[in-house]
Amino acid sequence: MSIQEKVKCVHKSYIRAGGKSFVSVFYERLMETSEDIRKKFEHIDMEAQAKILDHAIVMSFLFVDETHQSATQCLNNIRESHSRRNLDIAPELYDTWLECLVETVGICDPSANEELLANWRTVMSVAINHIRGGY
Ligand code: HEM
Repeated sequence: MSIQEKVKCVHKSYIRAGGKSFVSVFYERLMETSEDIRKKFEHIDMEAQAKILDHAIVMSFLFVDETHQSATQCLNNIRESHSRRNLDIAPELYDTWLECLVETVGICDPSANEELLANWRTVMSVAINHIRGGY
């Protein structure tokens, strides 16, 4: 399957999984993973954050097409905001973040299976590697 076909499958899965409500489940799980991560979100309005991440996830799908200008702009901004100069998100936190996201898909998408979860990993890794690379 080409990466663009994987993006299509993952996007449909994201819709089945419930978009914004999916993101809320994801953040609840993420907060349970470590004290380091919880501390990063201590003063953040999580409802607003869920809306922002919903948008960023869709932008991450579009970013797989490297000619997509608004997705590239969005991911460049996130790369800068998450770097050591700003939010200072350590590179290894992205592994936890992705594991949590994939677990959440397993819970929220009734049609999830191993192949689909592997596609989620492949697709989201494109944006994650870009953000992490700016640390
Ligand atoms: C693909 C992975 C990720 C995406 C797409 C993403 C996306 C975003 C976006 C769009 C924002 C709001 C705007 C901005 O500050 O740029 C944000 C804020 C934030 N992100 Fe991420 N993020 C990712 C990974 C992470 C990870 C791994 C952590 C830490 C565990 C993290 C922690 C935060 C925090 C603490 C904020 C709050 C900023 C604030 O409102 O002050 N993010 N993220």
